[in-house]
Amino acid sequence: MSNVSVISGKSSEELAKKLSKRIKANLIKSTIRVFPDGESKITLSGKISKKKSIVVQSIYPPVDSNLIQALSLISKAKEISSEVIAVIPYLGYARQDREFLSGEIVTMKVLAKLFKGVGASKIIAVDIHSVIGLKHFTIKSKNVTAIPDLVKYFKKLNLKDPVVVSPDQGGKDRAQEFAKEFGSEFIALEKKRDRKTGKVQIKTKNADEVMGRDLILVDDMISTGGSIINATQFLKKQKCKQVYVACTHALLMNNAEKKIKNAGVTKIVSTNTIPGKTSMVDVSNTISKAIM
Ligand code: R5P
Repeated sequence: MSNVSVISGKSSEELAKKLSKRIKANLIKSTIRVFPDGESKITLSGKISKKKSIVVQSIYPPVDSNLIQALSLISKAKEISSEVIAVIPYLGYARQDREFLSGEIVTMKVLAKLFKGVGASKIIAVDIHSVIGLKHFTIKSKNVTAIPDLVKYFKKLNLKDPVVVSPDQGGKDRAQEFAKEFGSEFIALEKKRDRKTGKVQIKTKNADEVMGRDLILVDDMISTGGSIINATQFLKKQKCKQVYVACTHALLMNNAEKKIKNAGVTKIVSTNTIPGKTSMVDVSNTISKAIM
């Protein structure tokens, strides 16, 4: 794409570089200077296209800093480009997409106003927690899925007849999509929460299907690892073989990777929407198709 700039935010440097190569756009890097009070100053190097800019910046921790950097980059891009696309591979705050309890602020609504306000004309996210989040945007919005990319990786592992498992009913469709693409069976676990103690218990009727088989637990994201650990402990009790985890966004907060491995998971595979030790799957091709 001639005459297009890909502006790389600090949180998505590698992905922005890959994307710019794929779509043959000019890459503009940013440098950040963080002051002792926590404010950051962003400097861009390179000439921004007058025609179109694509800002790439995931909103993972530090969430609010990465958010303000994304908004600042879009704002600067809009001073020069007539069209600015915001690629936010991991869209933080997406879990705050509705008022679960009275008085709660729907932060996704706030983000929608902010992205529009600074000049984005379209937002692209990868495996947003729920598409309800994008309904708050009045600019164009698109959610792309990394499931085919994850499946491609798992096909190379040559697992023997694995079962795909969703750790809860909420992730059923995602796991089903993975299983369909992979060509395997799938089940979705049922979580029950004790309203008094808050303790989560897994109750699943058809869990005997997992006995003696390798499993792939599929989820959109891992934060503390609680959901994956609970599911793994339950599945191990059902005498499954190895447990693999496929997720799009691996936040892995509070030593989650170690805790997940200690629970018996063989391998965690995630995408480069959040760079890290487990992010082996590249989503730049999937994102590039949404931009074209
Ligand atoms: C839940 O609805 C999500 O799909 C994830 O399962 C959840 O957000 C992961 O969080 P954690 O790793 O803290 O259990």
